[in-house]
Amino acid sequence: MKKDLGQAGELFPQSVFIVASYDEDGVPNAMNVAWGGECTRNEVAINIGDHKTTENILARGAFTVAPADRAHVVEADYFGMATGRKVNKAERSGLTFTKSTFVDAPVIEEFPLTMECEVRAVQDWGGEKRFIGEIVNTRVDEAILDDEGRVDFGKMEPLIYDSTRRIYRVVGEEVAGAWDAGKPLM
Ligand SMILES: Cc1cc2nc3c(=O)[nH]c(=O)nc-3n(C[C@H](O)[C@H](O)[C@H](O)COP(=O)(O)O)c2cc1C
Repeated sequence: MKKDLGQAGELFPQSVFIVASYDEDGVPNAMNVAWGGECTRNEVAINIGDHKTTENILARGAFTVAPADRAHVVEADYFGMATGRKVNKAERSGLTFTKSTFVDAPVIEEFPLTMECEVRAVQDWGGEKRFIGEIVNTRVDEAILDDEGRVDFGKMEPLIYDSTRRIYRVVGEEVAGAWDAGKPLM
């Protein structure tokens, strides 16, 4: 038996992107974004409502995106609960925000992988903003690279957001090769 859930929109997985930005005074901030994703190899879209981050990105034209990892689930969730309008989340988190050398936004050093983005388009969407950012640099901790210099998500253990139960999961086991598992049907 199948059931219709209307507009529920249960696409899975959703991201746990930590989007970092500076405000007009140079104060760093970070928020948690589940409604975001990679559009092309070097382009990211994030959908955000009326937040401190929204003001910051409009003011600075740049942001960074760090997929949260298992080791930083507490900080990642905190960035989605508190607002930079009321508290300095960078200080409270204890994490290290340093200025990107590529864009006008901070990099959070403790996250092993960060995409540094310049805003290329801003769309209004149902009272929210959709920012399209071009990835101008990707900064990675060598500890999560494999022998061939590729990011190894098995080592990194990125989080994914399960919106049906409002929980974080960790990216799971490898099951098959892409452009390979389908070969028996070719
Ligand atoms: C798991 C999770 C996912 C979230 N995803 C989004 C999102 O995609 N878009 C959005 O506007 N807010 C999202 N939020 C809410 C913001 O992260 C939250 O309102 C935050 O306080 C905004 O911070 P700021 O005001 O400092 O920018 C999410 C929160 C959590 C906990």
